[in-house]
Amino acid sequence: MVLDRMLGWAALGLILALACSGAIRQLYTNNETTVVVPVSQRASSINEECVAAAALARVLPTTLSNEATAFLAARADAPRSPPISALPQAEGAAFTRGILAAFCGPSAERHREALVASDSETTIAGVPVVRSTPKLGVALDGTPSAAGPTAMDETAVILYIHGGAYIAGSALGMAHTYAPLSAATGIKVVSVEYRLAPEHPFPAGLDDVTAVYRALLESHAPSRIAVAGDSAGGGLAAALLLRAASDGLPQPGAAVLVSPWTVLNSSRADTHATLKCVDPLISVDTLTTAGKWYASGSDLGVDDPLVSPAFGDFSAASAAASEAGRKPPAVLILVGTRELLLSDSAILARQMRRGGLEVELSVYDGMWHVWATGAQGTLGLPEAVEGVQEAAAFILKHLGPPPS
Ligand SMILES: *[C@@H]1O[C@H](CO)[C@@H](O)[C@H](O)[C@H]1NC(C)=O
Ligand SMILES: *[C@@H]1O[C@H](CO)[C@@H](O)[C@H](O)[C@H]1NC(C)=O
Repeated sequence: MVLDRMLGWAALGLILALACSGAIRQLYTNNETTVVVPVSQRASSINEECVAAAALARVLPTTLSNEATAFLAARADAPRSPPISALPQAEGAAFTRGILAAFCGPSAERHREALVASDSETTIAGVPVVRSTPKLGVALDGTPSAAGPTAMDETAVILYIHGGAYIAGSALGMAHTYAPLSAATGIKVVSVEYRLAPEHPFPAGLDDVTAVYRALLESHAPSRIAVAGDSAGGGLAAALLLRAASDGLPQPGAAVLVSPWTVLNSSRADTHATLKCVDPLISVDTLTTAGKWYASGSDLGVDDPLVSPAFGDFSAASAAASEAGRKPPAVLILVGTRELLLSDSAILARQMRRGGLEVELSVYDGMWHVWATGAQGTLGLPEAVEGVQEAAAFILKHLGPPPS
């Protein structure tokens, strides 16, 4: 049946590459799983449309690291994932979850081993979370380093929201996304096991994240909280700023969004069309299908500003901060030029600035979706290390030193 056939393809290295480029790269260095499928046999219609554009995408800038060049060169010839829209909803979700868990799991484990001192699954405000504390005095590959933070700042916390297109991923299974940030800052992480679509569409995930944020405000000053997330988790982090404002909660001190997915209506984002043959990982089919499932819980659908926060009004967030005599939250957005979601960051940054937030939009030439989450941080992608270090420096700068 269709799913079996698709899983068969997946076993051959036909991947639904959502968020784990480190693991994906490994596939291409493992002879058993490396496979190049002729263009005519590729599963996704995107590939047929993209034959001509793929030639252009093979031309890489000379400024990229050797590691990034090797990754992009390998992906140029790699088949894309089959469309999940062709499957019944439950099978599409199971397929996505299985692939993400299979390919991110090993990377998450390596990062836990290298960078996490202790972690545990628990609940906060009834929501499952992972609490994780970093190893101290280590570089991002886990080796001892005098440059790594030497003490943990107990007054601070990073509320982390994992990616997975709102339909897949788990806190521990995506530990590679927060462990590097935690180790580079010396700040503990609470990663939210929020409910996923299609079983739990909007606003379930945002409700869970908000409940955990609200609880963290009881034990931490808002200025000591950084909110961070990648991909769908970056979208949820942006939506949390809007939700906090409307719920009368204080704003966090800083937010870091890595390759955030903030426009769930692809007809409103330029690069969802123009980069569809360039993005080495993400397909429009995944965005459209998963986005529809998540947004089905809102009367406004994909255009709901809490679903697509790139169209949200952030002025209440900055007003709430000024009324409390605080600076508006500082936001760092990291995005690459080879991702479908480049427009999501461009639109969100302008919209947040219109609302009075302080935003840094940091665009990395040639990079792909969530390259900077640490998926390759300990596997030697220099651009990932740079991205994690930039995010860590931003958090440390805006949270400032612990109160004495
Ligand atoms: C990888 O696979 C190719 C094709 O089967 C084979 O020729 C080659 O020797 C293999 N390389 C390694 C390192 O196993
Ligand atoms: C997406 O946005 C377009 C343009 O604003 C709008 O016409 C369309 O109805 C939206 N799509 C959905 C599914 O809401």
